[in-house]
Amino acid sequence: MAERVKTGVKGLDEMLNGGLIAGRPYLVSGGPGAGKTVLGMQFLVEGVKNKERGLYISLEEPVSELKEDIEAFGWNSRDIKIIDSTQDAGSGIWLLKTDTVMSKPELSVTNIIKVINDLLVNYKPTRIVIDSVTSIRLLYERQPEMRRDMLSPINFLKKADAPPL
Ligand SMILES: Nc1ncnc2c1ncn2[C@@H]1O[C@H](COP(=O)(O)OP(=O)(O)OP(=O)(O)O)[C@@H](O)[C@H]1O
Ligand SMILES: [Mg+2]
Repeated sequence: MAERVKTGVKGLDEMLNGGLIAGRPYLVSGGPGAGKTVLGMQFLVEGVKNKERGLYISLEEPVSELKEDIEAFGWNSRDIKIIDSTQDAGSGIWLLKTDTVMSKPELSVTNIIKVINDLLVNYKPTRIVIDSVTSIRLLYERQPEMRRDMLSPINFLKKADAPPL
């Protein structure tokens, strides 16, 4: 039987026969306010309970707001590494604001892979959340190009053994 990874949401883990299948990428879909961001965070917080490291790449919400939301649930935001990749209000540019690579690369699928690759060595996360794919889609004018580019990190992470949620 495939190894299961608990999301931390009791009812969901029961429905999933113990949790998500380890080593797989999952796409969480739902309308605004459905709870996708909170589910992603809870998935990482659950990992912390097992001494796993969690990485959250936020393309939607600024880190300060995310941290407030995490703390509101009684979780410790310091336990999770958050990369802020939200759009700069002034310039409209999306940068991957990571402290591990020297410069702050502009947001692209290739650069997300670079940053994750770097963190897999330096931080060693076993759970990764990218919030959201919808934001990545905004970087593309054409769907086929996005599909092609997105397969690359999915396959890369499968090999790296740290699936995104
Ligand atoms: N399990 C939960 N228990 C209590 N409140 C929740 C839960 N999940 C989400 N919420 C609340 O619902 C609101 C919306 O949740 P969240 O930000 O996760 O939605 P979302 O699906 O990410 O929305 P968006 O598409 O706008 O990003 C938040 O205020 C959050 O605190
Ligand atoms: Mg959200």
